[in-house]
Amino acid sequence: MSMVFDKIVCGYGDTVVIRGISGDVQPGEALAVVGRNGVGKSTLLKALAGQLPLTSGAVTWNGSDISTNALYSRLGLGIAYTPQDNVVFGELSVADNLWLHLNDRKPERYQALFEQFPLLQTRLSQRAGSLSGGERKLLSFTRTLGLQAPLAMLDEPTEGVQPENIERMAAAVNQRKAKGASFIIVEQNLEFVSAIATKVVVLDHGEVVLQDPYTAIGREQIERHMVV
Ligand SMILES: Nc1ncnc2c1ncn2[C@@H]1O[C@H](COP(=O)(O)OP(=O)(O)OP(=O)(O)O)[C@@H](O)[C@H]1O
Ligand SMILES: [Mg+2]
Repeated sequence: MSMVFDKIVCGYGDTVVIRGISGDVQPGEALAVVGRNGVGKSTLLKALAGQLPLTSGAVTWNGSDISTNALYSRLGLGIAYTPQDNVVFGELSVADNLWLHLNDRKPERYQALFEQFPLLQTRLSQRAGSLSGGERKLLSFTRTLGLQAPLAMLDEPTEGVQPENIERMAAAVNQRKAKGASFIIVEQNLEFVSAIATKVVVLDHGEVVLQDPYTAIGREQIERHMVV
Protein backbone atom coordinates (compact mmCIF):
# COMPACT_ATOMS: atom_id res chain seq x y z
CA MET A 1 0.00 0.00 0.00
CA SER A 2 1.57 3.28 -1.03
CA MET A 3 0.57 6.93 -0.99
CA VAL A 4 1.98 9.30 -3.59
CA PHE A 5 1.31 13.04 -3.50
CA ASP A 6 2.17 15.27 -6.39
CA LYS A 7 2.61 19.06 -6.49
CA ILE A 8 0.16 19.68 -3.63
CA VAL A 9 -1.05 23.28 -3.38
CA CYS A 10 -3.52 24.25 -0.65
CA GLY A 11 -4.31 26.87 1.96
CA TYR A 12 -7.09 28.76 3.68
CA GLY A 13 -9.33 31.08 1.64
CA ASP A 14 -7.09 33.21 -0.54
CA THR A 15 -3.98 32.39 1.49
CA VAL A 16 -1.74 29.78 -0.13
CA VAL A 17 0.15 27.82 2.53
CA ILE A 18 1.48 24.73 0.72
CA ARG A 19 3.22 25.62 -2.54
CA GLY A 20 3.67 22.49 -4.61
CA ILE A 21 4.90 19.66 -2.40
CA SER A 22 5.52 16.14 -3.73
CA GLY A 23 6.48 12.92 -1.97
CA ASP A 24 5.49 9.34 -1.29
CA VAL A 25 5.46 6.63 1.33
CA GLN A 26 5.84 2.92 0.60
CA PRO A 27 5.05 -0.15 2.77
CA GLY A 28 7.29 -0.30 5.86
CA GLU A 29 8.42 3.31 5.48
CA ALA A 30 7.97 6.26 7.80
CA LEU A 31 8.13 9.70 6.22
CA ALA A 32 8.89 12.44 8.75
CA VAL A 33 7.71 15.97 7.96
CA VAL A 34 9.77 18.50 9.87
CA GLY A 35 10.29 22.26 9.91
CA ARG A 36 9.93 25.32 12.10
CA ASN A 37 6.59 26.46 13.58
CA GLY A 38 4.08 27.77 11.09
CA VAL A 39 5.76 26.51 7.90
CA GLY A 40 2.71 24.42 6.92
CA LYS A 41 3.36 20.92 8.30
CA SER A 42 -0.14 20.46 9.74
CA THR A 43 -1.70 22.01 6.64
CA LEU A 44 0.05 19.45 4.42
CA LEU A 45 -1.13 16.58 6.63
CA LYS A 46 -4.72 17.90 6.65
CA ALA A 47 -4.66 17.94 2.84
CA LEU A 48 -3.30 14.37 2.66
CA ALA A 49 -5.98 13.24 5.14
CA GLY A 50 -8.82 14.88 3.21
CA GLN A 51 -9.63 17.45 5.86
CA LEU A 52 -8.62 20.34 3.63
CA PRO A 53 -9.39 20.56 -0.12
CA LEU A 54 -6.53 20.78 -2.62
CA THR A 55 -6.19 23.90 -4.73
CA SER A 56 -4.21 21.80 -7.19
CA GLY A 57 -2.10 18.66 -7.26
CA ALA A 58 -3.06 15.05 -6.61
CA VAL A 59 -3.01 12.32 -3.96
CA THR A 60 -3.03 8.68 -5.03
CA TRP A 61 -3.40 5.54 -2.91
CA ASN A 62 -2.21 2.28 -4.48
CA GLY A 63 -2.41 4.03 -7.83
CA SER A 64 -6.00 5.31 -7.47
CA ASP A 65 -6.66 9.04 -7.36
CA ILE A 66 -8.17 9.96 -3.97
CA SER A 67 -7.60 13.73 -4.27
CA THR A 68 -11.28 14.53 -3.67
CA ASN A 69 -12.12 11.69 -1.25
CA ALA A 70 -13.43 12.92 2.10
CA LEU A 71 -11.66 12.14 5.38
CA TYR A 72 -14.03 9.26 6.31
CA SER A 73 -13.65 7.75 2.86
CA ARG A 74 -9.84 7.74 3.15
CA LEU A 75 -10.17 6.12 6.58
CA GLY A 76 -12.29 3.42 4.96
CA LEU A 77 -9.47 2.83 2.48
CA GLY A 78 -7.00 2.27 5.33
CA ILE A 79 -5.60 5.75 5.89
CA ALA A 80 -5.79 6.80 9.54
CA TYR A 81 -5.20 10.38 10.68
CA THR A 82 -4.60 11.95 14.08
CA PRO A 83 -4.65 15.76 14.14
CA GLN A 84 -2.32 17.91 16.23
CA ASP A 85 -4.97 19.37 18.56
CA ASN A 86 -8.32 18.33 20.07
CA VAL A 87 -7.29 14.71 19.90
CA VAL A 88 -9.73 13.22 22.42
CA PHE A 89 -13.40 13.54 23.39
CA GLY A 90 -12.90 15.14 26.80
CA GLU A 91 -16.36 14.34 28.21
CA LEU A 92 -16.00 10.63 27.38
CA SER A 93 -14.04 8.04 29.33
CA VAL A 94 -10.66 6.82 28.14
CA ALA A 95 -12.34 3.49 27.28
CA ASP A 96 -15.04 5.16 25.18
CA ASN A 97 -12.35 7.15 23.35
CA LEU A 98 -10.69 3.86 22.46
CA TRP A 99 -13.78 1.84 21.52
CA LEU A 100 -16.56 4.25 20.53
CA HIS A 101 -15.68 4.18 16.81
CA LEU A 102 -15.36 0.38 16.70
CA ASN A 103 -17.99 -2.30 16.24
CA ASP A 104 -16.74 -4.38 19.13
CA ARG A 105 -15.08 -3.70 22.47
CA LYS A 106 -12.59 -6.54 22.28
CA PRO A 107 -9.63 -5.75 24.53
CA GLU A 108 -7.21 -7.73 22.33
CA ARG A 109 -6.96 -4.85 19.88
CA TYR A 110 -5.16 -2.73 22.45
CA GLN A 111 -3.47 -5.50 24.47
CA ALA A 112 0.05 -4.97 23.15
CA LEU A 113 -0.30 -1.20 23.38
CA PHE A 114 -1.57 -1.41 26.98
CA GLU A 115 1.52 -3.41 27.83
CA GLN A 116 3.65 -0.60 26.38
CA PHE A 117 1.53 2.14 28.00
CA PRO A 118 0.10 0.67 31.24
CA LEU A 119 -0.98 4.16 32.31
CA LEU A 120 -3.89 4.08 29.86
CA GLN A 121 -5.20 0.78 31.11
CA THR A 122 -5.29 2.06 34.67
CA ARG A 123 -7.24 5.14 33.54
CA LEU A 124 -9.91 3.42 31.39
CA SER A 125 -12.88 4.70 33.40
CA GLN A 126 -11.45 8.22 33.84
CA ARG A 127 -12.80 11.16 31.83
CA ALA A 128 -10.34 11.77 28.96
CA GLY A 129 -10.58 15.52 29.55
CA SER A 130 -8.93 15.05 32.93
CA LEU A 131 -5.75 13.63 31.36
CA SER A 132 -2.69 15.85 30.91
CA GLY A 133 -1.88 17.12 27.42
CA GLY A 134 0.80 14.48 26.93
CA GLU A 135 -1.50 11.73 28.20
CA ARG A 136 -4.16 12.80 25.72
CA LYS A 137 -1.60 12.56 22.92
CA LEU A 138 -0.72 9.07 24.12
CA LEU A 139 -4.42 8.14 24.10
CA SER A 140 -4.93 9.37 20.54
CA PHE A 141 -1.72 7.64 19.44
CA THR A 142 -2.95 4.37 20.96
CA ARG A 143 -6.39 4.73 19.37
CA THR A 144 -4.83 5.31 15.95
CA LEU A 145 -2.31 2.47 16.20
CA GLY A 146 -5.11 0.18 17.41
CA LEU A 147 -6.80 0.63 14.03
CA GLN A 148 -3.84 -1.22 12.48
CA ALA A 149 -4.28 0.87 9.35
CA PRO A 150 -1.90 0.31 6.43
CA LEU A 151 -1.05 4.03 6.63
CA ALA A 152 -1.22 6.20 9.75
CA MET A 153 -0.67 9.95 9.59
CA LEU A 154 0.19 11.51 12.94
CA ASP A 155 0.58 15.24 13.65
CA GLU A 156 3.19 15.81 16.40
CA PRO A 157 2.35 12.64 18.37
CA THR A 158 5.06 13.23 21.01
CA GLU A 159 4.07 16.80 21.95
CA GLY A 160 4.12 16.95 25.78
CA VAL A 161 4.72 13.20 26.17
CA GLN A 162 7.24 11.95 28.77
CA PRO A 163 10.61 10.82 27.30
CA GLU A 164 10.19 7.17 28.36
CA ASN A 165 6.81 7.00 26.64
CA ILE A 166 8.25 8.68 23.53
CA GLU A 167 10.75 5.81 23.30
CA ARG A 168 7.89 3.31 23.58
CA MET A 169 5.93 5.17 20.90
CA ALA A 170 8.93 4.84 18.58
CA ALA A 171 9.10 1.12 19.34
CA ALA A 172 5.37 0.74 18.59
CA VAL A 173 5.76 2.57 15.26
CA ASN A 174 8.75 0.42 14.32
CA GLN A 175 6.82 -2.77 15.16
CA ARG A 176 4.03 -1.70 12.78
CA LYS A 177 6.59 -0.77 10.09
CA ALA A 178 8.14 -4.25 10.40
CA LYS A 179 4.68 -5.63 9.53
CA GLY A 180 4.55 -3.48 6.39
CA ALA A 181 2.55 -0.52 7.69
CA SER A 182 3.58 2.99 6.68
CA PHE A 183 3.53 6.31 8.48
CA ILE A 184 3.61 10.00 7.67
CA ILE A 185 4.56 11.79 10.87
CA VAL A 186 4.84 15.52 11.48
CA GLU A 187 7.36 15.91 14.25
CA GLN A 188 9.55 18.51 15.99
CA ASN A 189 11.30 16.01 18.26
CA LEU A 190 14.38 15.01 16.24
CA GLU A 191 15.24 12.22 18.68
CA PHE A 192 11.92 10.59 17.78
CA VAL A 193 12.49 11.34 14.08
CA SER A 194 15.86 9.60 14.15
CA ALA A 195 14.26 6.57 15.85
CA ILE A 196 11.47 6.07 13.31
CA ALA A 197 12.09 7.90 10.02
CA THR A 198 13.19 6.12 6.87
CA LYS A 199 12.94 9.43 5.00
CA VAL A 200 12.45 13.08 5.73
CA VAL A 201 11.02 16.19 4.12
CA VAL A 202 12.00 19.51 5.61
CA LEU A 203 9.53 22.32 4.92
CA ASP A 204 9.99 26.07 4.93
CA HIS A 205 7.32 28.57 3.92
CA GLY A 206 5.19 25.83 2.37
CA GLU A 207 7.99 24.41 0.23
CA VAL A 208 10.38 21.47 0.50
CA VAL A 209 13.90 22.67 1.28
CA LEU A 210 15.40 19.23 1.91
CA GLN A 211 14.13 15.76 0.97
CA ASP A 212 15.97 12.43 1.20
CA PRO A 213 16.36 9.13 3.04
CA TYR A 214 17.00 9.92 6.71
CA THR A 215 20.41 8.25 6.59
CA ALA A 216 21.46 10.50 3.69
CA ILE A 217 20.43 13.72 5.42
CA GLY A 218 21.39 13.09 9.03
CA ARG A 219 20.30 15.03 12.05
CA GLU A 220 22.77 17.93 11.78
CA GLN A 221 21.52 19.01 8.38
CA ILE A 222 17.91 18.87 9.58
CA GLU A 223 18.79 20.91 12.67
CA ARG A 224 20.29 23.64 10.50
CA HIS A 225 16.85 24.17 8.93
CA MET A 226 15.05 24.17 12.28
CA VAL A 227 16.96 27.17 13.62
CA VAL A 228 14.74 30.25 13.62
N1 LIG B 1 -7.62 27.31 9.87
C1 LIG B 1 -6.74 28.22 9.42
N2 LIG B 1 -7.15 29.35 8.80
C2 LIG B 1 -6.27 30.26 8.33
N3 LIG B 1 -4.93 30.13 8.41
C3 LIG B 1 -4.46 29.03 9.01
C4 LIG B 1 -5.32 28.02 9.55
N4 LIG B 1 -4.56 27.03 10.07
C5 LIG B 1 -3.27 27.41 9.88
N5 LIG B 1 -3.21 28.60 9.24
C6 LIG B 1 -1.97 29.30 8.85
O1 LIG B 1 -1.24 28.47 7.95
C7 LIG B 1 0.17 28.56 8.19
C8 LIG B 1 0.73 27.18 8.43
O2 LIG B 1 0.12 26.62 9.61
P1 LIG B 1 0.35 25.12 10.04
O3 LIG B 1 -0.54 24.88 11.21
O4 LIG B 1 0.21 24.24 8.87
O5 LIG B 1 1.88 25.16 10.48
P2 LIG B 1 2.74 24.07 11.27
O6 LIG B 1 4.01 23.92 10.51
O7 LIG B 1 1.93 22.87 11.53
O8 LIG B 1 3.03 24.84 12.63
P3 LIG B 1 3.28 24.24 14.13
O9 LIG B 1 4.68 23.73 14.13
O10 LIG B 1 3.13 25.42 15.02
O11 LIG B 1 2.24 23.19 14.38
C9 LIG B 1 0.33 29.50 9.38
O12 LIG B 1 0.65 30.78 8.87
C10 LIG B 1 -1.04 29.51 10.02
O13 LIG B 1 -1.30 30.72 10.66
MG1 LIG C 1 1.31 21.95 13.22
